[in-house]
Amino acid sequence: MSQQLLKTLLGSKILITGGAGFIGSNLIETLVAHNINVVCLDNFSTGKRENIEAFLKLPNFKLIEGDIRQLDDCRKACKGVSYVLHEAALGSVPRSINDPITTNDVNVSGFLNMLVAARDAGVKRFVYAASSSTYGDHEALPKVEETIGKPLSPYAITKYVNELYADIFHTTYNFDSIGLRYFNVFGKRQDPNGAYAAVIPKFVQQFINHESPVINGDGSYSRDFTYIDNVVQMNLLALTTENPEALNQVYNTAYGDRTTLKELANLLKTYLAEFDASIKDIDIKHRENRVGDIPHSLASIEKAKRLLNYNPKYNISAGLKEAVAWYWKNIS
Ligand SMILES: NC(=O)c1ccc[n+]([C@@H]2O[C@H](COP(=O)([O-])OP(=O)(O)OC[C@H]3O[C@@H](n4cnc5c(N)ncnc54)[C@H](O)[C@@H]3O)[C@@H](O)[C@H]2O)c1
Repeated sequence: MSQQLLKTLLGSKILITGGAGFIGSNLIETLVAHNINVVCLDNFSTGKRENIEAFLKLPNFKLIEGDIRQLDDCRKACKGVSYVLHEAALGSVPRSINDPITTNDVNVSGFLNMLVAARDAGVKRFVYAASSSTYGDHEALPKVEETIGKPLSPYAITKYVNELYADIFHTTYNFDSIGLRYFNVFGKRQDPNGAYAAVIPKFVQQFINHESPVINGDGSYSRDFTYIDNVVQMNLLALTTENPEALNQVYNTAYGDRTTLKELANLLKTYLAEFDASIKDIDIKHRENRVGDIPHSLASIEKAKRLLNYNPKYNISAGLKEAVAWYWKNIS
């Protein structure tokens, strides 16, 4: 299916902001491999040059080093572009709690700059990274797009504001967008290092180094962990859908199943033990729960199935096996 979608994009130029990051670099990899022209805008604040090194020599790839907080950089990047995949943002709930001002500058002002630049450049469609954090304190499971709660962190506020701006750009300027509420994405090139690393790459690195991973809480909190290939599929569907009803909507971007932190750590241990048998003897430690963390997260993916024909191929086990093999090869 993805092959057919990619064919419809041939000849178009697509801007990927945040392309040097985890999700952006995976999107670039798929698009450039299918001869689509890609421009990447990134300031390398959390992204890495090595994530896009392999693309720099390709004739259909262009890097613009710049900052979405600068409207001129956004305008330069949007020149001649038909579609935008907007991934650039400062992720992480704890980072936003430590520094809400910078998170807001990048995630809200930067987002608005990108909307203005894309609108003025005549971009046909703006697909952006929204977040499951928008469900906030609403406890019902599974999460359905229409029902959200109160945000639990500055990061969650910024991601919700993105959705509000995108909606206003549709009603005010007739500018089309689609928001993808990502649920705990994982896969190759997700950064295992730093204070704000996501749980899967961090635990993988710790197991590989024979250190005990530390779970916040008793391990009963659960997440809808989503493998990157499912996320790439959603982005392609959002870019190419011809269903007018599908535009100017937000979609849960997830697998639609949940796994507890304890189960996750044990799955990682099992899959990594295939490379190094001694990993199965490593203990898992616990500490208190983190501020701003919601206990459970599980997406309904019915809306994406109905309006976009989304059909995720990787469940958590299949995704973790792929991810673990990549980390073993690249960081061990
Ligand atoms: N990874 C997840 O599980 C997840 C979940 C929900 C939402 N998201 C969203 O998906 C998007 C991509 O996340 P990711 O996991 O790939 O993160 P990432 O940190 O790996 O990538 C973000 C990229 O944006 C770039 N960037 C940051 N500030 C910038 C600025 N001011 N100007 C230009 N570039 C800038 C970074 O250098 C980096 O390359 C983000 O919008 C994030 O909020 C991710």
